[in-house]
Amino acid sequence: MEKVLHTLYHKNKVYCKQGKVASYIPALAKQDGEKFGVAVMDLSGKFFAVGDVEEKFTLQSISKVFTLMLAIIDKGQEYVFSKVGMEPTGDPFNSIVKLETMNPSKPLNPMINAGAIAISSMIKGKNNGERFNRIRGFLEEIIGEKITFNEEVYLSEKETGNRNRAAAYFMKDVGIIEGNVEEVLDLYFRHCSLEVNCIQLAKLAGMLANQGVSVITGKRMVSKEITQLVKSFMVTCGMYNASGQFAIKVGVPAKSGVGGGIMAVVPNKYGVAVWGPALDQVGNSIGGVKILEDMSKEFDWSIF
Ligand code: DON
Repeated sequence: MEKVLHTLYHKNKVYCKQGKVASYIPALAKQDGEKFGVAVMDLSGKFFAVGDVEEKFTLQSISKVFTLMLAIIDKGQEYVFSKVGMEPTGDPFNSIVKLETMNPSKPLNPMINAGAIAISSMIKGKNNGERFNRIRGFLEEIIGEKITFNEEVYLSEKETGNRNRAAAYFMKDVGIIEGNVEEVLDLYFRHCSLEVNCIQLAKLAGMLANQGVSVITGKRMVSKEITQLVKSFMVTCGMYNASGQFAIKVGVPAKSGVGGGIMAVVPNKYGVAVWGPALDQVGNSIGGVKILEDMSKEFDWSIF
């Protein structure tokens, strides 16, 4: 694997030049679009890694997978899916167009921004500090080490995230969000700004590949049933309006974030992380998607 990974890394790194780093969150525009890293962990905890795998980046939308698991633990599936749907949108991740036209009016799935904001409102805790620590603590328990937080990216998104704010206020109006809207948004912006490197992200993916048990600590974090549910969302909605193409070309559950990370899961085999902040037009890491296509072909990863 090591040798093939090196070859594929150098082959696909050139694609990073064709992408653009996210700029709608001003602090993300400072990222270096030429950075590129890939890490694969097998279920014995053995690593194969190439490139910028020690550098931190914000989870952004990848955090939605973990908040979904916590919301289901806290509120149960019935409540969660009475507020958020289970269908892909075909629209960009930040689109709000379908919020009003769908009947009943609810975000289509928990992987788009609107759905994830609604999910943030379901995390248990007496106040936002407790809720945030619960999310961060969950991630830390999976990988067995501390997770850092990028204050600059958080403040930058909090200041400029008006489209998310619009979605949240609309959802409050129609009863999808209970509680204080600004607090819910604050929690959402905070969990999007938690940081990992590729090694840590591969450990997070490994828990899902391992049916809910942390590869690092051996501790069961969630039930197998919940991991099946979130992996299904990753397949159908994890790469936004490129999820269909990704399923065909790569064929594994994956979740991207505008920080340039992609967390991919090869069930019962590998936790995979790629990072390349240069994004394609959909908002997925351009080099990241390309190398995953090649790795899937090379190692026969497709689940289909
Ligand atoms: O809400 C946002 O726009 C960001 N915090 C997260 C979006 C994101 O990562 C979409 N990913 N490709």
